[in-house]
Amino acid sequence: MRHPPTKRKEADMKKIDASNSPIALSRRSFLIASTASVAWLAMGGRSRTAQAAAPIVLPPLPYAENALEPVISAKTISFHYGKHHKGYVDNLNKLIAGTEYADLPLEKIIIDTAGHTEKAAIFNNAAQIWNHTFYWKSMIPKGGGEPPNAMKRKMEASFGSVEACKKELLGAAVSQFGSGWAWLVLDGNKLKAVKTANADVPLTTGMKPVLTVDVWEHAYYLDYQNRRADYVHAVLDKLINWEFALQNAT
Ligand code: FE2
Repeated sequence: MRHPPTKRKEADMKKIDASNSPIALSRRSFLIASTASVAWLAMGGRSRTAQAAAPIVLPPLPYAENALEPVISAKTISFHYGKHHKGYVDNLNKLIAGTEYADLPLEKIIIDTAGHTEKAAIFNNAAQIWNHTFYWKSMIPKGGGEPPNAMKRKMEASFGSVEACKKELLGAAVSQFGSGWAWLVLDGNKLKAVKTANADVPLTTGMKPVLTVDVWEHAYYLDYQNRRADYVHAVLDKLINWEFALQNAT
């Protein structure tokens, strides 16, 4: 049974009708905007934070550009770090500006976009930033030589000897068709030599990177032209940072 509207309801109906006037709409828009602002502040201003998020930063080289000479020239490092590595940082910042990735740490961006074809550009640039930062740390001036005893024991346990480990790393580097990376990784408790193509990184397959060698041509072509094996051999013998590898292998 329908009841006649009460005076209160009539008054409410008038308010609703009145709210369709331009002035009332303006006021309503203002209230919605104000409510959204309060909600935004309660969320910690997240959406604005995303837009104004600090960009991914190019980490400093851990040594001078000429510090790896004569194995890798200052000219190679200058292009490799200053153009290629920086280029990946600049590209990624453009790609993620204002997106769900703007606030995320680099590793999370890599994990979240791996295997998603439509996110390949973000993944490739993010992974290349991570890979290069790890590569610079995998080398040190006057590196190579005998690994520390703890690292040596780990290499012997997994490969039989230090030389066998280096041979497998060289094999991974040389057999990578086209651009990519050779890695020493920890797979469970076992050290393994693996290779990845293009920007791929073992982080996405559950293996822990221990050290890496960049086998993209831009890493060695100015100094070694097409002699990739000579470049990798020289890096393993004279530049590899076994202390860094040990830190990652424990
Ligand atoms: Fe590179």
